[in-house]
Amino acid sequence: MDSLRTKMKMPHYTTILCSMLLLASGVASRSAQCVPGVNCKLPNCRCSNDDSIPGGIPAKYTPQIILVTFENAVNEGNVGPYLDLFSGLKNPNGCPALGTFYVQEKWTDMGVVKRLFDMGHEIGVNSIDGTLPHTATEWLGNITEVRRAITQVAVPEKNILGVRAPELSPGGLAEFWAISVDHLLYDASCATGSLAHVDSLLWPYTYDFIPGVHCDIGESLDGTFPGLWQVLIADLEFKGQRCASPAACTNVVSQNDAFEIFYNSFINHYHGKRSPFMMVINPEWVTVPNKKEGTIQFLKYVTSLNDVWIVTVSQALDWVRYPVPSWRAKSGYAPWGCAH
Ligand SMILES: *[C@@H]1O[C@H](CO)[C@@H](O)[C@H](O)[C@H]1NC(C)=O
Repeated sequence: MDSLRTKMKMPHYTTILCSMLLLASGVASRSAQCVPGVNCKLPNCRCSNDDSIPGGIPAKYTPQIILVTFENAVNEGNVGPYLDLFSGLKNPNGCPALGTFYVQEKWTDMGVVKRLFDMGHEIGVNSIDGTLPHTATEWLGNITEVRRAITQVAVPEKNILGVRAPELSPGGLAEFWAISVDHLLYDASCATGSLAHVDSLLWPYTYDFIPGVHCDIGESLDGTFPGLWQVLIADLEFKGQRCASPAACTNVVSQNDAFEIFYNSFINHYHGKRSPFMMVINPEWVTVPNKKEGTIQFLKYVTSLNDVWIVTVSQALDWVRYPVPSWRAKSGYAPWGCAH
C-alpha cells in the first residue's frame, strides 16, 4: 500500500477509503482465479479470461454490436458531422442507430449535449479540459465535476455510466477508484493491439478478479472492483499500420481506405465471436470529407445486414448482462427499445 499511496499522492482520508475498498474487495479475489460460470456469473460478473459468448449463444444467433464513440468537446461546430454519421440509420428493430459521447466540459455546449441525450445517444465523462488526471483525487475531481456539469442540463445522473480517459490513456487504480466512488459502471479507454485478432477479441468483462487485460496506453488496472466493467478497444489494422482510433492510422487516404479500415476489423468480430466492435471517432477524422464518407458508407453497409446493431455502450452492457439471441432482440427487448 505504501508505494501505492506515494504514487497516487492522495490525501489521507481518500487513502484510507481507498485502502478499505481494496481490502474489502481484493483479498479473496487476489489469490483466486476467475472461473466462468463458477465463481463469476452474469449479470454482474464476467471473467476477462472467458472466451465464450455471453449466455452461451451461438455466434450466428448473436447480435453483432457496433459502438460508435466520441470524445472531447461537443458543440455546434462539430456536432453536425457527428450526427451525419447516424443519419437515416436504423437498427433491426426499427429504432435509430445510436452512439456514445464522452464529454469534455471545456468548449462543450451543454445545450448540444441535451439534444444528443434526448435523441437517445449516451452521454459519458471524458475530462474537464482534456488534460489527463494522474492522482486519484484528480480523477475523482474531474469525473465528479464533468458529471455535475452534464446533469445540470437535465441528463439524469443515473444515465451517466461511463468514462473515456483523455488520449485513450486509462488511469488504472486511480481512475477505477473514482468510478466506484461516483457509482459509475464502466471504463471505455483500454486499447489493445494484442487482442485485435479474430481469435483473441474479448467481450466486456468485470474487475471482480485480477488480472484483467494489459492496456497498450496508460495504466492497466491492478485491483478488483466487483461489478465494474471494462469495454475494450481493439486496435484497427490497415496496410501494416495499427491504431486504436482511425485518425492515428496515417495511411488512410481515400474514401475506400476509410471504408476498409473499419470493414477489415469489423469482419474479425462478425466472423468470430461477435464481441462488440468499438469505433473511436474524433474531429480530425470526421472533418476530412473522404474519411467521413467512408465511415458513412461502412455504417450504411453494416445496417444492411440484419443482425448488426449500432447501440450505445451502456446498451451493449445491458445485452452482455442479459443476453438474448438476434431474433429476440428484434422484438420487445426493452434495453434496445427506441429512446426514452
Ligand atoms: C482534473 O485533472 C487535471 C489534470 O491533471 C488537474 O490539474 C485538475 O486539478 C483536476 N480537477 C479537479 C477538479 O480535480
